[in-house]
Amino acid sequence: MSKLWGGRFTKQTDELVEEYTASISFDKKLAAFDIEGSKAHVRMLGNQGIIPTEEAREIGEGLDKILSRIERGEVEYSVADEDIHMNIEHMLIDEIGPVGGKLHTGRSRNDQVATDMHLYLREKTKKLIELVETVQQAIVGQAGSNVETMIPGYTHLQRAQPISFAHHILAYFWMFERDKERLQDSLKRVNWSPLGAAALAGTTYPINRRETAEALGFEKVYPNSLDAVSDRDFILEFLSDASILIMHISRLSEELVMWSSEEFRFVELDDAFCTGSSIMPQKKNPDVPELLRGKTGRIYGNLMGLLTLLKGLPLAYNKDMQEDKEGMFDTVETLEGALSLLAPMLETMEVNKHRTDSSVKSDYSNATDMADYLAVKGLPFREAHEIIGKIVLYAIQEEKYLLDLKLEEFKEFSELIDEDIFEKLAPDQVIAARKSEGGTGFDQVREQLKAAEEHLSF
Ligand code: ARG
Repeated sequence: MSKLWGGRFTKQTDELVEEYTASISFDKKLAAFDIEGSKAHVRMLGNQGIIPTEEAREIGEGLDKILSRIERGEVEYSVADEDIHMNIEHMLIDEIGPVGGKLHTGRSRNDQVATDMHLYLREKTKKLIELVETVQQAIVGQAGSNVETMIPGYTHLQRAQPISFAHHILAYFWMFERDKERLQDSLKRVNWSPLGAAALAGTTYPINRRETAEALGFEKVYPNSLDAVSDRDFILEFLSDASILIMHISRLSEELVMWSSEEFRFVELDDAFCTGSSIMPQKKNPDVPELLRGKTGRIYGNLMGLLTLLKGLPLAYNKDMQEDKEGMFDTVETLEGALSLLAPMLETMEVNKHRTDSSVKSDYSNATDMADYLAVKGLPFREAHEIIGKIVLYAIQEEKYLLDLKLEEFKEFSELIDEDIFEKLAPDQVIAARKSEGGTGFDQVREQLKAAEEHLSF
């Protein structure tokens, strides 16, 4: 088959080279965006009188036909046409004849492919923002039914202070809120139009870049044609945002895996989100959160891959840049899959309230409050800390929890301790007392929940 760029060549392309350099096997995902960009470009060519309007219309209609054929799955792409751009151009010429060859006037594949990726990433980023919000919805749902569910709060994975389960899970709400903000912010830069930069230096045709930018919904045009075709920051930014997002998903998943274990049994994931073992009949494995945690590796890998790919590239376009796509597609699809599963899994998860409530009663996590109790009575906090440390040690030796000690035992350590200590040390009191802004006090958590709900748009 003759090449669209065949004029300068005297030999056929080596078959292996053709296979090796082609990107059609993956960049076919850009087809609809490529056609959208081409239609804006050709309309502008007509409006500017660069080609007759009638021909611009004919080309536009030809592109529409090709798009419907692609959507119906009727086209066969050819490796000889290398990439999605030349495949579509070839189809166009086959469809409407030599006039189709006018589409590429004043344009290069370099600004074309950059335009396609901006369009692709804009659509996918918006969809991902919505998916993140479905996860936030599920979190708000669980938080709403678990404000008064008590759970141990940890530092160093050692019991620290009891907290509200809603407070714990809402921590993830705010992580996802920042993820949404970051993705939203990245759209500012995704919305720069590279179209019209041509190969690297602009073009001699009297094109109108503002017109194509506006037609494609971009907010500004790249002010420098070299930058326009060389810039992949917007993809790097997406991959960075994606890496932070999947890291949050992974931390949450790790907690779900842990909480599902016999050692914790704080939650029970719905059967529909777990799998069994081929040998051990008793097993119910939390495969989904494990896999979500595992997916982090490929997304970080995609970020590192693109950073490394770009670091030594001279301006402007280099073929290396064709390698920018698979990691981007893979990241988008990995996140779509992860978020679509995470939301219903969180929604259907059962919190084992009996277990979480009883666990906060069987530890020393009320020790801080006991120290505060003495401090409120006038003892310097440092001294109070020392005394309570001794009481905890004594209790451990006696194989008791703090609430199991008798008032006389307490008094051995400090005369300041009275009967009211027992009420103050109950886990629900310990939690309720943390009324500081953003704290785990039940009333504070209710406030937080309200604030979270205000961030949901549907
Ligand atoms: N398939 C190419 C890519 O994705 C399109 C741009 C090709 N440009 C070129 N000058 N060979 O990077």
